[in-house]
Order: sequence, then structure tokens, then C-alpha cells
Amino acid sequence: MKKLKTENYKGVRDFYPRDVFFQECIFETWKKTVKSFGFEEYNASLLENSEIYKAKTSEEIINNQTYSFIDRGDREVTLRPEMTPTLARMIAAKKRELSFPLRLYSIPNCFRYERPQRGRMREFWQLNVDILNVKNDKFYDIEIIKLINKILLNFKATSSDFTIKINSRTLLNSVYENYYEFNENEALTFQRLLDKKDKITQVEFSKEYEKITDKEYKDISDIDDKKVKKELSYINEIIEVCKNTGITNIEFDQNIVRGFDYYTGIVFEVFDNDPENNRALFGGGRYSNLIDLFESVKDDVNISGIGFGIGDVPMMNFLESRNLLPEFVNTTDILLGVISDNQKVIDYADMVATELRDQGKNVSINYDNKKVGDIMKITEKNGIKNVVIIGEKECEEKVYEIKEI
Ligand code: HAM
Repeated sequence: MKKLKTENYKGVRDFYPRDVFFQECIFETWKKTVKSFGFEEYNASLLENSEIYKAKTSEEIINNQTYSFIDRGDREVTLRPEMTPTLARMIAAKKRELSFPLRLYSIPNCFRYERPQRGRMREFWQLNVDILNVKNDKFYDIEIIKLINKILLNFKATSSDFTIKINSRTLLNSVYENYYEFNENEALTFQRLLDKKDKITQVEFSKEYEKITDKEYKDISDIDDKKVKKELSYINEIIEVCKNTGITNIEFDQNIVRGFDYYTGIVFEVFDNDPENNRALFGGGRYSNLIDLFESVKDDVNISGIGFGIGDVPMMNFLESRNLLPEFVNTTDILLGVISDNQKVIDYADMVATELRDQGKNVSINYDNKKVGDIMKITEKNGIKNVVIIGEKECEEKVYEIKEI
């Protein structure tokens, strides 16, 4: 019989205890920070009806990156590529019962059929943080940026490690309308071209650009238009406030457009300053029309949200390249090695283990009648910090000693 391969499916990871440990370290700091800003956790199934992505997710994700299938009841199902449409659906479903404004977070696993590369996998975990339905958007736009900054600082990063790049869809829309004079479709095509600007060559970009418009490609700050100037001043105000609170590594970047069609206000991405990690670390923005796509929400009700996502893979690369991950420590506190196969000694060892567990210690027992030296090696190799050896002598005298490794 042909033996099976041990390789996993392309672009997903196996998590051995050490991998779980490091992923948990990341989740803990994420959770600790967002909870300290008053966010509450939500969750949902990874299976979604495909239609919720069709209206406003990115064209690239829908056409090339979703894992979709038809179930046995003929329903079109998608493994969530992102959490925002699910969140919008959940908010729309309970909009009467929920007490706004809401601060919500979740750490779902998401699936995208991407080319696996540094920082990008086909299954990844993504911290999602969103504030919904507030009165004064500006203060919350700023708070979300403060939170992003705080997350990275809580990992002991410094402001020279990353750059926050910010732009605005409202600004871009006014550029499309007032400078390029695009209709809605042309604007969308142009925006999608801008979104892939960094992934294609200058020549390819120019060729596509010329197909859409004969206007010169300009710096937005050089465009002389009232509406454009007004929107630019909103971004500058946000940048100014952030700088005043000590966030100096923030800048306007007209090339940040974000792939998703649902963004309507500010958009931002955070980049690792290490050129090896060149994909975005965080991405997010404000969306105003996503929640009213659902039938439970009347057309005149407008529930807006601001939020972001960050993946565990780019986060891990960021921390690894700066040595900011802690040393691995096993969740087991003590390895108790029984160096005898006499039933009386084993009974005594069990009693000691029970006593230690009752004191709140995590205790693993090795009953394999190994030599003391071997028990020591096993303890060390597994990253366990303490060892207890139980043999005939300890059993006779009813004693034991916890030794630190
Ligand atoms: P996104 O830009 O697609 O936005 O993803 C946000 C972050 O998720 C990225 O910056 C990256 O850290 C991580 N990420 C994305 N794709 C992958 C991948 N294939 N492997 C590993 N990490 C990945 C969104 O998903 C929006 N729904 C975020 C949002 C929340 N906007 C508002 N609220």
C-alpha cells in the first residue's frame, strides 16, 4: 500500500505546541490591548452564504481568492476571506437589540486562495477591531489609530519600527469627480488600478492608466480644487492630532486606496519598516454603507463603522525580525518522573501529583521508569521549568523536592 504524505495542504500551517505558544502570545497582547480600550469579543462561523461578499468585497478576492463550494442543499457557501461582511450582517440582524455605539473585536481564522509568500498564507488568523455607529466620526478615526499604535508598542516595538499611512476614500472620490471627471464605473476601474500599483511595473501601470484617462497623474496636494483641499485638510487634521499625542510615524499617502469596495472614509495601512516584510501589517478604514446592504436595515438608516484587521503571520514576522518574541515556556509547570515500577512508589507519585495539581500547578507524570538523567533531559527539552523525582527513597520517607531546571 502506498503510504500517505505528511505534508499539509498548501498555504496552511500545522500548530505544534511551540507554534500554539507563540500564536497565543500574539493573541494575548492583542486581546489585552483592545480590552483596555473597552472592546468586547464576538465570534461567528467560518461558513458564510457567498452572496454577502458579492456586493462590496474586493473584486480580486471574489474572483480569485475565495474558497467557495455548493453544499448538499444547493447553497453557495464561502469560507470567510475576511470578517467585516460577517460583522455587518450580525449588526444588521440585531440592530434593534444592540446598544450603540459598539466596540467589538474578534480573532477569526480567514481563508484566501492567495499565492503563499512571506506574510501571506491561505489560512490565517486576523484580529478585527471595529467601532460602530458613533456620532462624531473624527474622534473615533483618531482613536482607532491610537489603538493600532498602542498594540505595537505593547509588543515592545518602537515608533521607528513601523509607519502608519493614511488616505481617504472621500478625498479620492473628490479627485475622481473634480479632477478626472470620472463616472462611477471609471472611478472604480481607476481605483482598482491604483490598488495594484505596487504589484505591477511602471510600464504596465502607465499602459493601463492611459486606457482610462488622458489627464496627467498628479500629486493630490497639487490639485487645485475646493472639495479636494477640504478633504485633504481633514486628513491633515487627523495626522496633526496624532502627532500631538506622540504618534510621529504617521503620514498621508495617496497610494493607499485599499482593495475593498466598502470603504467610504479614511483608509490606512501600517507598514513594517523592515524591507524584508514588505506586505502591509494592518489595513482598515471607515465604511458607511455596508450594514444597510442587509434587508433588516431601512435605506434611510445609516450605520457607519471604522475598523481594521491585522494578521498573525505578518505580526509574527514583525516580532521575529526584531527578537520581540518571548522564550518558549511549556504550560506544564512540573515534570514528575517516577524512577521505579513498584506500585507503592507509583501510588505515592500520584498522591504528590494530586497535591501539586490541587495547589494550581500543571503536572505531567512520566511512569516509564527512566533514569534520573533521562528525566532531566526530557524536562529540559520540553521547556518545562521544574522537575520532581520520585523513587523508593522518597516513597519510604514520604518526601519530595521540586527542583528548578
Ligand atoms: P485586509 O487588508 O484584507 O483587510 O487585511 C488586513 C490584514 O490582515 C493585513 O494587513 C494582513 O495583516 C492580514 N492578512 C490579509 N491577508 C492575509 C493572508 N493571506 N495571510 C496572512 N495575513 C493576511 C481586511 O480584511 C478588512 N476586513 C479589515 C477591516 C476590518 N476593515 C474594517 N474593519
